[in-house]
Amino acid sequence: MIKMAIEDKIKDLMARREQARLGGGIARIESQHKKGKLTARERIEILLDEGSFEEFDMFVTHTSHDFGLEKQRILSDGVVTGYGTIDGRIVYVYSQDFTVFGGSLSEAYAKKICKVMDQAMKVGAPVIGLNDSGGARIQEGVKSLAGYAEIFQRNINASGVIPQISAIFGPCAGGAVYSPALTDFILMSERNSYMFVTGPKVVKTVTGEVVTVDELGGAHVHAAKSGVSHFISETEEEGLMMIRKLLSYLPSNNLEDPPMVQCNDPIDRLEDSLNYFIPSDPNKPYDVKDIIYAVVDDNEFLEVHRHYAKNIVTGFAKFDGMPVGVVANQPSYLAGVLDIDASRKAARFVRFCDAFNIPLVTMVDVPGFLPGTQQEYGGIILHGAKLMFAYGEATVPKVTITLRKSYGGAHDVMSSKQLRGDINYAWPSAEIAVMGPKGAIEVLRSRELAEITDEEEKKRFIAEKEQEYKDKFANPYEAAKFGYIDDVIEPRNTRFRVIRALQALATKKDTNPPRKHCNIPL
Ligand code: HXC
Repeated sequence: MIKMAIEDKIKDLMARREQARLGGGIARIESQHKKGKLTARERIEILLDEGSFEEFDMFVTHTSHDFGLEKQRILSDGVVTGYGTIDGRIVYVYSQDFTVFGGSLSEAYAKKICKVMDQAMKVGAPVIGLNDSGGARIQEGVKSLAGYAEIFQRNINASGVIPQISAIFGPCAGGAVYSPALTDFILMSERNSYMFVTGPKVVKTVTGEVVTVDELGGAHVHAAKSGVSHFISETEEEGLMMIRKLLSYLPSNNLEDPPMVQCNDPIDRLEDSLNYFIPSDPNKPYDVKDIIYAVVDDNEFLEVHRHYAKNIVTGFAKFDGMPVGVVANQPSYLAGVLDIDASRKAARFVRFCDAFNIPLVTMVDVPGFLPGTQQEYGGIILHGAKLMFAYGEATVPKVTITLRKSYGGAHDVMSSKQLRGDINYAWPSAEIAVMGPKGAIEVLRSRELAEITDEEEKKRFIAEKEQEYKDKFANPYEAAKFGYIDDVIEPRNTRFRVIRALQALATKKDTNPPRKHCNIPL
């Protein structure tokens, strides 16, 4: 064997690296760019702190000898893996390379992903997966399916231990959708990305439905209709920046606290406008996001599931530099009612925050659960129970502010004192009762109402009885009398009171009884 000089060896290494970086070759890279897509490596560069990426396994190739694949061995084999930093904190990353066999997953490719997932678990760092793949590598058959299952199992083991984030920047179809689905957050870019279990052709054959790829599983569909995706971005670059932002609220693992930052927004900043914010007509809507923006640090709020179940708002913010999860009923959409989608959305968010030690701030203005056959047949009983379960099992600090209505079962669900709400405040505009005055009078006075024949007299009677009911229940003091509300606070002082509450709860310790796992009504 001819011995190579070290210079030649290094040259050889550089040439191999160069070869690996080209993935499927220049023509395929150009085709990727023409579709308005970035390459796997370009995405990683944008995602991570400059120059921080350390790549693993760039010399891996597949091991298949079937269907002529033995003649096509491409370095890296269609997925770029490794670690780097985001804002100086370690993250693990894999980025599927569509220029190599359509980013399809082989046995070797799956092993590469599993390697970074295993190491991320050992060091306690988030995993970010950038998806752009034609799914299972057809030529590898069952080995590819096994490779997926290896990844799924790791997704499951990592759930609640390290944050897992998926971005979809291209196709994600068939069983391949289940790895992102097992992760904590999914982001989809508006152009070029889609997710579905079966594509339009299969749909047409099986159900006769004719749909386009976008109608079936495009970014907007999953952001607004199915709720599969939590974030949507106009471009891939924007999506990658959103992932960086998201991580700024999250700890690296479940044993750490979320990252605190220096806060320059005064903690005792008064928001005078909030004193006059709630409309005097209890049925008039307002945008609860105005309240959230007004009270959090620097008016910054990262909304999760912005387009899905808009009757409840979920997202991350900071109070005095401390990350929190915010959950708020939204009176400007379906009057802020709790329905199936809103319950599922908020339950998952609450559980995520609890798993990662992120305190919860809940703002309540809820008229109740949405009535009707559609909701009952859809199982609102079970879905509503999910949200109740999520709040009830959460042991993180929980601060609740009742802004206006808090009626019935929905009152209990929304981080009430009895579901281990730690500090529960109410604004003077709060109405805490079994139901609203109108409904209550209809139930309590039905016999008397039936006997009144004169319409004017009926109206007067209803008004009088509603007033009686409001005087008794449509205020926060009845609840405060029993200690269910810890204090009634001036709205303009909300920021300060929430920060004080979070400071007081910072060392909170609470546990659930020992068990294999709970049995949340899924
Ligand atoms: C092997 C694949 C591939 C795959 C694409 N390619 N998908 N090779 N296995 N799954 C190759 C193509 O042959 C082509 O190679 C190159 O990647 C680019 O693909 P194109 O079709 O030219 O690209 P485009 O027109 O953009 O279409 C992309 C696509 C299409 C929509 C993803 O390729 C496609 O429908 N692929 C098959 C998708 C699929 O059914 N996958 C299996 C899903 S089931 P050349 O050399 O010609 O350029 C599944 C099960 C997972 O994944 C189960 C987990 C439990």
